[in-house]
Amino acid sequence: MTKYKLPTSGTKIEYKDGKLRVPNDPIIPFFPGDGTGPDIWRATRIVIDAAVEKAYKGKRNISWMEVFAGLTALKNYDKDTVLPQETLDAFREYRIGIKGPLTTPAGSFKFVCLDCAAELMDRPATCPKCRSEWITPRFRSVNVGLRQKLDLYACVRPVRWFTGVPCPVKSPEKFNIVIFRENTEDIYAGIEFQQGTPECKKVYDFLTSEMKVKIPFPDSGIGIKPISITGTKRLVRMAIKYAIAHKKPSVTLVHKGNIQKFTEGAFRDWGYEVAAQEFRDQTVTETELWDKHEGKLPAGKVLVKDRIADQTFQQFLLRPDEYSVIATTNLNGDYLSDAAAAQVGGLGIAPGANIGDGVAIFEATHGTAPKYANKDVVNPGSLILSGVMMLEHLGWQEAADLIVKGLEGAIQAKTVTYDLERQMAGAKKLKCSEFGAAIVRNMTDAAGAA
Ligand SMILES: NC(=O)c1ccc[n+]([C@@H]2O[C@H](COP(=O)([O-])OP(=O)(O)OC[C@H]3O[C@@H](n4cnc5c(N)ncnc54)[C@H](O)[C@@H]3O)[C@@H](O)[C@H]2O)c1
Repeated sequence: MTKYKLPTSGTKIEYKDGKLRVPNDPIIPFFPGDGTGPDIWRATRIVIDAAVEKAYKGKRNISWMEVFAGLTALKNYDKDTVLPQETLDAFREYRIGIKGPLTTPAGSFKFVCLDCAAELMDRPATCPKCRSEWITPRFRSVNVGLRQKLDLYACVRPVRWFTGVPCPVKSPEKFNIVIFRENTEDIYAGIEFQQGTPECKKVYDFLTSEMKVKIPFPDSGIGIKPISITGTKRLVRMAIKYAIAHKKPSVTLVHKGNIQKFTEGAFRDWGYEVAAQEFRDQTVTETELWDKHEGKLPAGKVLVKDRIADQTFQQFLLRPDEYSVIATTNLNGDYLSDAAAAQVGGLGIAPGANIGDGVAIFEATHGTAPKYANKDVVNPGSLILSGVMMLEHLGWQEAADLIVKGLEGAIQAKTVTYDLERQMAGAKKLKCSEFGAAIVRNMTDAAGAA
């Protein structure tokens, strides 16, 4: 018997031969999250349900199933469990989920058990409290736990501008880029040794004596950055498949290979390898574009190119319309996706998803904004647009389009939450729930029903 309740109706999404099979009444696990999470979730659920109803007139509907994580897990399980096994199992079993933001408690302890959040000063093979073997070298958030345990290896962030949203650049309408950020390796693997510890000295001695590596100063902390063929290829493969499916003109491999040849440079090389070996007929490289096609992309092909990470920041500002899909390593993707979101109006309306093979969780990209919790004031746009991504992932494009129309309509009518209202002359300030209602009002039912 699980602590969460199964809905009274609904069918499981299946995954066969690399494809999702979505019934007309999928069961979708969700958790609202901490802080302002419940406020934005309430608005989001109303908007998604209204769009599905409007698009499919009762032929399709979502059976929502609440599972627990973060504070709701502490309340429903025991006081140390922030990420219950049942929640992980539910996301794995039901395949598609959506979540609000979660609190990430900070602390000075050295190790933490991801299953029960036990704070430990050394690293036993299994957690003394819950016997889990999921003990990480330093505090990792529940979000990281979800990504790691479900192997959600791609963090996908579509970044575009919505007409009327205040933003710092001159031509925000040129920006429409989907960023695929590798989610499992790079410096986020958490392999770090604290300066002054015996472990750090051991690593330092090994590197300087046995590997003959020069480290500028002996009083260094040391971090290790793994980038693998497996991690790179599956991420780039997903990005290229996305570009082909969505008729996007290019995939750009973003890396820092000019400095880190065997990690970032290898990412670029393995990325090109995937394109050449698995998508030969559907892709051309930049060299081929000029050598064989006089700089004109042949119809139906995806251009695969690469850019150095720092240059990409400039390109996003100066020539964003030359980019449509980005595939990049974890740290580059972290910086790039937040900078891109800021460029077109901020994190308040930037959606995101963590996607693996056959499992995906859609989420707000901002945090819990605890000072606004339960005040019904924050912008639910990020979670609502994550809902749009989720509907697209299900193949329910008509409902997704209705939400985008509704959001565009609400913004163009200047009926927005405080964060946008304070930057828009003549705008009317709405509460979080009222903004959700405005989106529903602004949906048209012009989209074709299934
Ligand atoms: N994905 C996640 O679950 C996630 C992401 C980031 C931070 N966090 C956690 O959230 C908590 C708070 O973190 P923080 O204060 O650094 O970041 P935050 O994103 O919660 O808030 C920073 C500020 O951004 C603004 N803001 C955030 N969301 C908004 C919204 N929907 N509408 C309007 N304004 C909004 C508010 O002014 C807020 O004070 C921490 O525990 C942190 O670890 C969680």
